[in-house]
Amino acid sequence: MKMKLAVLPGDGIGPEVMDAAIRVLKTVLDNYGHEAVFENALIGGAAIDEAGTPLPEETLDICRRSDAILLGAVGGPKWDHNPASLRPEKGLLGIRKEMGLFANLRPVKAYAPLLNASPLKRERVENVDLVIVRELTGGLYFGRPSERRGPDGNEVIDTLAYTREEIERIIEKAFQLAQIRRKKLASVDKANVLESSRMWREIAEETAKKYPDVEVSHMLVDSTSMQLIANPGQFDVIVTENMFGDILSDEASVITGSLGMLPSASLRSDRFGMYEPVHGSAPDIAGQGKANPLGMVLSAALMLRYSFGLEKEAAAIEKAVDDVLQDGYCTGDLQVKNGKVVSTHELTDKLIEKLNNSEARP
Ligand code: NAD
Ligand code: IPM
Ligand code: MN
Repeated sequence: MKMKLAVLPGDGIGPEVMDAAIRVLKTVLDNYGHEAVFENALIGGAAIDEAGTPLPEETLDICRRSDAILLGAVGGPKWDHNPASLRPEKGLLGIRKEMGLFANLRPVKAYAPLLNASPLKRERVENVDLVIVRELTGGLYFGRPSERRGPDGNEVIDTLAYTREEIERIIEKAFQLAQIRRKKLASVDKANVLESSRMWREIAEETAKKYPDVEVSHMLVDSTSMQLIANPGQFDVIVTENMFGDILSDEASVITGSLGMLPSASLRSDRFGMYEPVHGSAPDIAGQGKANPLGMVLSAALMLRYSFGLEKEAAAIEKAVDDVLQDGYCTGDLQVKNGKVVSTHELTDKLIEKLNNSEARP
């Protein structure tokens, strides 16, 4: 197979974890006899500095003529005081919207060697395997009317707006995912307060009729945030509004031991997708070789699975991650008992060794 990939490293640790993911991808593609063309493009702060805008037209063109996008992270203190339209984050929101990537899948899985790296009790996190399905192109992030300040500067507006169709397609996606997993769906909202949540709940109930084998529960977001820590093993698929999903996924990352572990896939109805770790640009550790590349590397595995249907290749990457952790290697963000802390580059070397020595290799 020949694939065309758009590569958007972004800011902070974005380029460091991207370098790791590309090295791993090249290894696995080479081992399995596939070809890839990588085209780099600017986004976020890097794009503001070079092109004067967080999402240059050229970047969108490159993405449109690619089969999938890999994205590192955007943002950093350098641009934190820029006006809204010139913030790195605007570039990320813009590309999600422009490419129609409404469904953001954020898998959260406990890794056996990392059980003692979580501040949660071992028996709470053991066997956790859940996916947060975050609506990504509507809700509070894309209000209509859009965010603005009143004329005297003392009034602000952020709107949580959804159309029926926007809610239907994300709920449908979540049911489909639950059906091929453990058939449990938690639809998370704030229906005791928000009208948008009441419509969300109605649609979830209507859609449930088409999936009688999926067990649905409706949960309020505040109590869900508590349940995620108290009893994360109860969850299979969680579907929720854009901002609720943003917050819950960072919280859920604690189960794995580090935010640096979580991958994500941003999808639409065809095979096109953007693959990005859940974490940000981590300015506090950028440029020091300390970044955990596994969230980005696992995002590349999701790309092989969802955009290209390359299940064996995706599984090979996931197994290499398991094996390297099993050997005790990790980056400093993971508080693994007796762990061997190595740099981003060294951990990537270990992944590549595993991939090249794997018995499953063709
Ligand atoms: P962050 O995710 O960048 O960092 C939070 C903490 O987690 C930091 O202590 C950081 O060092 C650590 N961390 C994150 N990823 C790590 C990794 N891979 N390896 C090791 N440690 C890791 O969140 P923040 O500090 O709140 O935000 C920093 C910037 O990133 C902001 O500008 C924010 O807007 C942006 N951001 C971007 C994205 C994205 O591009 N998808 C996501 C979240 C935040
Ligand atoms: C994420 C990030 C982004 C979001 C920011 C950087 C706009 O936090 O991908 O989780 O809130 O969606
Ligand atoms: Mn986030």
